Formats: sequence, structure tokens, C-alpha cells
Amino acid sequence: MQVLLDYKNVSLFQNDREVVSNLSIEIKKGEFVYLLGKTGSGKSTFLKSIYADVPINNGNASVCGYNLGKIKSNEIPFLRRKLGIIFQDFQLLNDRNVYENLKFVMNATGWTDETKIKTRAIDVLQKVNLQGFENKKTHQLSGGEQQRVSIARALINNPELILADEPTGNLDPESSEEILNVFKKINEAETSVIFATHDMLVYNKFKSRTLIFENNLVTEKA
Ligand SMILES: Nc1ncnc2c1ncn2[C@@H]1O[C@H](COP(=O)(O)OP(=O)(O)O)[C@@H](O)[C@H]1O
Ligand SMILES: [Mg+2]
Repeated sequence: MQVLLDYKNVSLFQNDREVVSNLSIEIKKGEFVYLLGKTGSGKSTFLKSIYADVPINNGNASVCGYNLGKIKSNEIPFLRRKLGIIFQDFQLLNDRNVYENLKFVMNATGWTDETKIKTRAIDVLQKVNLQGFENKKTHQLSGGEQQRVSIARALINNPELILADEPTGNLDPESSEEILNVFKKINEAETSVIFATHDMLVYNKFKSRTLIFENNLVTEKA
């Protein structure tokens, strides 16, 4: 299978402090990989390095064909189009409706044809079980629904790799399980998922490959 992410001997830093030491890891197309570890263990730092928000200054790191140690700032938007990124706090535009939130990203990534934009919006909303939600204001939605809009938004440009940073962190157990099921469905369609969490309730619902973040090190769970 195609390797989407390949890190060799990479150490990650925040403010000159080493947060993750000597990480070597490969992630292939179609995998669902958990990042499990306490707050402060470096999960978000690793995810940020993948979307070139934390620099790689040592070792070798490549993601979706980009060498992260050598990536130029004008290439970063193109790397990010191959990724779908989902955060704990949804990061929706709350003065706009669901359709406008999706259209905003499409306009920013080169979509111009209004018919294609509409069709794609309906398509991604269907993938997250939000048919008919186009005209709802995001503040009228439950947390779980808002998170599903943010997943729909991440799917717009058919990403090769989804990065989810504690996507259930603000949700009740029932909504969390629904979100996990959406990610499972996306993963069954061959999109790779990296899912950072410290939510054991979610984690125990679905078994998959797991990287443990602890004491500045990342280890593969047996
Ligand atoms: N922007 C930042 N500036 C300085 N230190 C940071 C920053 N972001 C994270 N850190 C520190 O890096 C370490 C790892 O944090 P983080 O990657 O956010 O962990 P996690 O996502 O597992 O909770 C923590 O000690 C945290 O305080
Ligand atoms: Mg984090």
C-alpha cells in the first residue's frame, strides 16, 4: 500500500523545548491510527507538524509527497488541500449558515461554478448524515451537528489524509460515538484517518492501530 506519511528520526519542538524525541513512523493509505496520550504529551504538536504548522528541522519527514523539512511557504496551501483537518472546537463561521461555511472553503480553494459548489455541498453533508441542513445557522446546531459540519468541510477537496485533533473533546458520549462512526465510515472509503484523543470511552468503542504519546516518546501499542 502507498505510504502517505513517513517520519524518520524526527524530533519536534515547541519554543526550543523537545516535545517528541526521535519519532519514526509510517502511515499507509487506508489506515485509521489513534494518537493516544495525556494532555501535553505532544499529539497536537505532531498533527501540526503534518500540516506544516510546526517546522521539521531534523530527521526526514514526508507527507502526501511533500518533504516537510524542505517545504516552501508557497507550497503549504497545496499540502493542506491534501489534508482534512478537524479540531475540538469546530472552528465554524458562526454568522453564516452551513452551506455558506462549506462554500467559503470552496471559494478559497478554487471552486467557482455555483452548480458544482451546490452539488458538492449536498454530497459532503450526506457523508456526515446532515442531509437538508444547508440553510441552518451553525449556532442553531448541537455540538455533534457542528462537528459533523466541520467534518463535511474537511472532506470537500477529497483529502488523502484526515487529521482529527480531539474531535470529541467538547461532546457528550452519544454525540462522540456518532462522530466516531462518521470517521469509521470515511475510513471505510479508503481515506486515512489520524485521530488524536484521550477519550477512553471513544477509544474503547473501536479498536485500531494506536500510537502512544508518553514521556516525549511515541510507541506503537502492541
Ligand atoms: N504554541 C505553543 N508554545 C509553547 N509551547 C507549546 C505550544 N503548544 C504546545 N506547547 C507545549 O508543548 C507540549 C505538547 O503540547 P501538545 O502538543 O499541545 O500536547 P497534546 O496535544 O498531547 O495535549 C506541552 O508541554 C505544551 O505546553
Ligand atoms: Mg492537543
